[in-house]
Amino acid sequence: MGDAQLTVGVLRETAPGERRVSVVPDGAAALTKAGTRVLVEAGAGKGAFFPDAAYEASGAEVVDGADLHRRSDVLLSVRKPDTIDGMRDGQVLIGLLSPLLDAPGMAALAQRGVTAVSLDRLPRTLSRAQSMDALTSQANIAGYKAVLVAAGTYTGYFPMLMTAAGTVRPAVVLVLGAGVAGLQAIGTARRLGAIVHGYDVRPEARGDIESLGGKFLDLGAKAVPSEGGYARALTDEETQAQQQALTAAIAKNDVVITTAQVPGAKPPVLVTAAAVAAMRSGSVIVDLAAGPLGGNVDGSVPDETVVTENGVTIIGAGNLPSTMAAAASTAYSRNISALLAHLRNTGVLLIDAADEIQAGVVITHGGQVINAATAALINTGGAS
Ligand code: NAI
Repeated sequence: MGDAQLTVGVLRETAPGERRVSVVPDGAAALTKAGTRVLVEAGAGKGAFFPDAAYEASGAEVVDGADLHRRSDVLLSVRKPDTIDGMRDGQVLIGLLSPLLDAPGMAALAQRGVTAVSLDRLPRTLSRAQSMDALTSQANIAGYKAVLVAAGTYTGYFPMLMTAAGTVRPAVVLVLGAGVAGLQAIGTARRLGAIVHGYDVRPEARGDIESLGGKFLDLGAKAVPSEGGYARALTDEETQAQQQALTAAIAKNDVVITTAQVPGAKPPVLVTAAAVAAMRSGSVIVDLAAGPLGGNVDGSVPDETVVTENGVTIIGAGNLPSTMAAAASTAYSRNISALLAHLRNTGVLLIDAADEIQAGVVITHGGQVINAATAALINTGGAS
């Protein structure tokens, strides 16, 4: 675009069941005030209960999809749109694009000349990147909601209750994986009064779990040092030892919430079929890692609830942030605004792969896949 004003376009999400929106009306107002022109695809905020009129009142212009694609310098989304047909050379697409799970999709964007910026590749340990950390903002929501979903399905109480008719014992909850979602789950389950244990392969997680009132589940296994704050994938031997040790521990719980991910790779199976079979009837498992590549629980199905023969309910919680669309969108919108503020210089976005944040998030630019991890996947012939 020739003028100095940057035009951003808020896309209506296309992924099935996705209710979030990348920019909320308050975010649109702040962007407009800062001199950015904001276009919003009609109905983009509907799933999160932000009507078109609220965007108009915040200074944004509500347009149809074709107009939005034609006029925007930057397209904003939560998930990768199901088609890139309307996108053009030089346009920027910002979202949670999962480049390591969709290397061919990234190659297609590069071929089209689109600069793809993916917030899930943010270097999260940089303190100046924290306001842009969408994985954290969404994982917080997922961890909180996972506990509510579990409590809503579990047929007992979470807290201990002393009533005239006797004492009710508290639920015993185990949270596997104590990253952002896991810690939020531990805190939330504690606030509901459950007895909570947490477990992670990263030894540094023990302090975090205990600071929230949880107990660290010590399997006596060898500590696995983290890489850049992330757990590495375990070897086959380590996995087997872990699964065996966990099986005995899992059976003692009423509720198990699993949150363990390894970036760009298949989630580790932490709850095996044998562990599920050993659980009491009426127990509930919520698998936050359930997705297209699998999950942390044998037999979990993304976005479905399965009740096993021995009476264990396994909830494959594929996209919990979408079920809290207003809160999730508000947090994400702030992450997007912070990233835009970082990238822009007056009316243009400055793409500079030498910048540490951009070296992480800019996946394609100038017709090339410039993100090294994504490019490596393409060279080796596909996603993990
Ligand atoms: P994640 O969603 O990738 O994984 C969740 C948790 O599962 C992690 O704690 C991981 O260690 C654990 N895990 C992976 N494989 C496992 C296995 N086989 N058994 C048990 N646990 C396993 O992680 P998330 O929540 O995205 O956080 C990743 C890391 O980044 C954490 O260390 C977190 O504290 C750190 N972080 C740091 C930030 C900062 O410094 N500003 C901001 C956000 C996260």
